[in-house]
Amino acid sequence: MELLVVKDENEVGRAAADAVIEGLSGAEPPVLGVATGSSPLSTYRHLAEAVKEGRFDPRPVRAFALDEYRGISPEHPESYHAVIRREVCERVGLLPEHVRVPPGRAKDPVSACAEYEAAMAAASGVDVQILGIGSNGHIGFNEPGSSPTSRTRVQRLAPQTRRDNARFFGGRVEDVPEECVTQGIGTILEARRIVLVAQGESKAAALAALVDGPVTVDCPATALQGHPSVLIVADEAAASRLTPRG
Ligand code: F6R
Repeated sequence: MELLVVKDENEVGRAAADAVIEGLSGAEPPVLGVATGSSPLSTYRHLAEAVKEGRFDPRPVRAFALDEYRGISPEHPESYHAVIRREVCERVGLLPEHVRVPPGRAKDPVSACAEYEAAMAAASGVDVQILGIGSNGHIGFNEPGSSPTSRTRVQRLAPQTRRDNARFFGGRVEDVPEECVTQGIGTILEARRIVLVAQGESKAAALAALVDGPVTVDCPATALQGHPSVLIVADEAAASRLTPRG
């Protein structure tokens, strides 16, 4: 894994956007894995800048989102359907018909998840996957205990994740859905290149476990240690607990 520590969130976004553009170049069509939450927002801002500057063409890009809550409508402003529409389609300019989000409302989640995986495979897989990391080390919504070979499926959100995400729901933990559909760790690991972004002190312990710790299901992100092409871009606060490198 390659680690890049930069000053702040804006610089994380700049470096991650450049890595995304580089990783997608030459792919036909380019396939991007998109994350939600606050971590990738500066990356999307810099991708939008690159579009304005003529350095990135979003129109041919196909995209697959990592996860979606269960139990809220796609019209809810904090559903990941809505977040992806705002931040990825409207801001960066990916075409809505090229972007898929996991099936949070499916009546038959098992076959809907299998269909999502099949759509990813039919697109020849993901060229670059953008990831954030949860304060408890989750990637996607693969909470501690998730198998490294897991596939797209329904998961219960950990109490820590619901507390962390209450900020998107007016501070009310009880309004954060209890379940989600998430790509599995095995699904995520199939991406050809992974760009993980982390900002802020609240990510420092999880990032230290990812970079310096042993591979363990207690910190799902550590499964990335076995991937051949991972770039971690962190700001100084998120990197503050890493073992100093010589
Ligand atoms: C979101 C996702 C999650 C988030 C993580 C960090 O699609 O898959 O793993 O990346 O929960 O969230 P933020 O960025 O809001 O701190």
